[in-house]
Amino acid sequence: MSKNAWQDNRGNKDRTITNPQGQGKEFPIEGRGKAVRVEGESPFLIGEAMTGGYGTGADILHDCTVAVEKGEIAVIVGPNGAGKSTAMKAVFGMLNLKSGSVRLDGEDITALSPQDRVAKGMAFVPQTSNVFVSLTVEENLEMGAFLRQDDIRPTMAQVYDLFPILKDKRRQAAGELSGGQRQQVAVGRALMTQPKVLMLDEPTAGVSPIVMDELFDRIIEVARAGITILMVEQNARQALDIADKGYVLVQGANAYTDTGKALLADPEVRRTFLGG
Ligand SMILES: Nc1ncnc2c1ncn2[C@@H]1O[C@H](COP(=O)(O)OP(=O)(O)O)[C@@H](O)[C@H]1O
Ligand SMILES: [Mg+2]
Repeated sequence: MSKNAWQDNRGNKDRTITNPQGQGKEFPIEGRGKAVRVEGESPFLIGEAMTGGYGTGADILHDCTVAVEKGEIAVIVGPNGAGKSTAMKAVFGMLNLKSGSVRLDGEDITALSPQDRVAKGMAFVPQTSNVFVSLTVEENLEMGAFLRQDDIRPTMAQVYDLFPILKDKRRQAAGELSGGQRQQVAVGRALMTQPKVLMLDEPTAGVSPIVMDELFDRIIEVARAGITILMVEQNARQALDIADKGYVLVQGANAYTDTGKALLADPEVRRTFLGG
């Protein structure tokens, strides 16, 4: 087994990482709405038939569905402005949906605030402004753990194992880091909550192809440690290559949904979205 706690899911028994607690368990909910347990088989996380937009503006999402099975990687791709980030915000509770629902681990969480969703085990790394630039790397990680009462040092050590460069730079302001390193801080900060599901909006934006490959490898490691991943990617080919499930969104609606491999092999998807 690897020394790295994030690797080798089959052998990883570190409960601080996989956080199996919470599976099928009811939590007392406070906030603007209550979670409702629903019956039947369902993906681990699903935003189903979501319709809505920003404030009183026009709808951006039209009957849009994105989902991910436990421990898998689902990737959302599509042209600029397709509503990928909007779909992620909707799943995280940052948008008031006109219709549709969001369910996590068999519970209807549509009415929950983002903060309550974090308490349920969701973590979200937004596309922009995802680190505190004036804080050090370590302070960013500590901020990620602000909801926790327990000892956060083991999780921090695991984040440093996953991203060793962050340990070297832990006393530096995040704003001084390269783009790829900042993305590592953002992902690391999200992991500090010990999430069950990690949502990433364009984690490889603005990084070189080598750094992109490296980040994808780390994301696969996180998934293998049992953390479910829902991510948006503009590097569609590479992302679909590592995706168990892929969603192509166009104008706020589902255009194609299949396994990553099947989408990569689909001539229509290739021609229209992957450049042939
Ligand atoms: N905060 C916002 N307020 C109003 N409209 C927005 C906001 N963010 C995005 N939009 C609009 O929603 C649509 C989808 O944007 P977005 O979800 O960011 O697309 P993508 O992430 O696929 O590039 C675009 O037309 C965009 O202008
Ligand atoms: Mg976006």
